[in-house]
Amino acid sequence: METLKHYKEITDNFIEELSRRRIFPKVFQEALFYTPKSGGKRIRAMLVFSAGKITGAKEEHLVHIASAIELLHAYSLIHDDLPVMDNDDFRRGKPANHKVFGEDLALLAGDGLNTYTFNVIANAPIDDTKKVKIIQWLSNNAGIGGMVVGQVVDVLTARERLKGYSNKRLVNFIHKHKTAKLIQASVICGALCGNASETILKRLEQFGLYIGVAFQIIDDYLDVVGDEKKLGKKKVDEINNTLTYPKTYGLEKSYQMAQKLKDMAIEEIDGLDGADELKYIAKLVVERDR
Ligand code: IPE
Ligand code: IPE
Ligand code: MG
Ligand code: MG
Ligand code: MG
Repeated sequence: METLKHYKEITDNFIEELSRRRIFPKVFQEALFYTPKSGGKRIRAMLVFSAGKITGAKEEHLVHIASAIELLHAYSLIHDDLPVMDNDDFRRGKPANHKVFGEDLALLAGDGLNTYTFNVIANAPIDDTKKVKIIQWLSNNAGIGGMVVGQVVDVLTARERLKGYSNKRLVNFIHKHKTAKLIQASVICGALCGNASETILKRLEQFGLYIGVAFQIIDDYLDVVGDEKKLGKKKVDEINNTLTYPKTYGLEKSYQMAQKLKDMAIEEIDGLDGADELKYIAKLVVERDR
């Protein structure tokens, strides 16, 4: 879809601009922007723009939020790849951040990106009341109400430090938090840049959660059947004893569950004006091979 390509392009350009601001020392500037500029799919950025389209938000406002969320996502990937986490040497077809800059700088680059995200949002030319809501959503869903706690349960489960819960319950919690919450926040923060009614926000909230869980199910699925070259990362779930959907439900059933979630997501926003792009992204989420 042409518009989605355009969203990716303007996000790439915006991040490129940010990366040109001088930071001391230079090696830290390089570590900071190495992963954000290494060519992700920009799905979260696209969701910001496409949700914003529904609520009449301006592209020149959305680009700040889309780029900020991609910076935060990059931080989560840098930390996720560290030897104490998933220990993956490759990301986006290149050596992982810590393989190039060392674990010390990779850790700090992640820290830097995490807070820089909120600085970019605070500085965006968007109404303060809207920005507060955006920051409320993102800080919760990326942090202890979402991504971070999802990662906590992910590693504690893999290392058998969390006992007494069924795998079905755990894997559902992990996927909802480590991945779906940030995807949901991308949708909501985009919508908040425009004028969204409570009912539209509620529907988008549900949409984001459904495609977010589907996204991680497919990520797990590709960790079994995907091609490492295309994925640009190592398939490490088995090695790490990561609890995944295929492990819990089997490969076929997992794929069907992702399809079902995609259908539910599309149904949720059916009839909303301008929802075509979001529906297209929902399909992309389950039909991708990288
Ligand atoms: C990878 O996300 C991490 C997960 C939450 C599964 P993406 O598959 O969106 O990674 P990029 O941004 O395209 O590299
Ligand atoms: C990613 O889950 C979750 C994050 C919050 C980064 P994975 O560990 O499965 O992601 P990949 O496969 O390394 O991209
Ligand atoms: Mg992980
Ligand atoms: Mg990982
Ligand atoms: Mg994975």
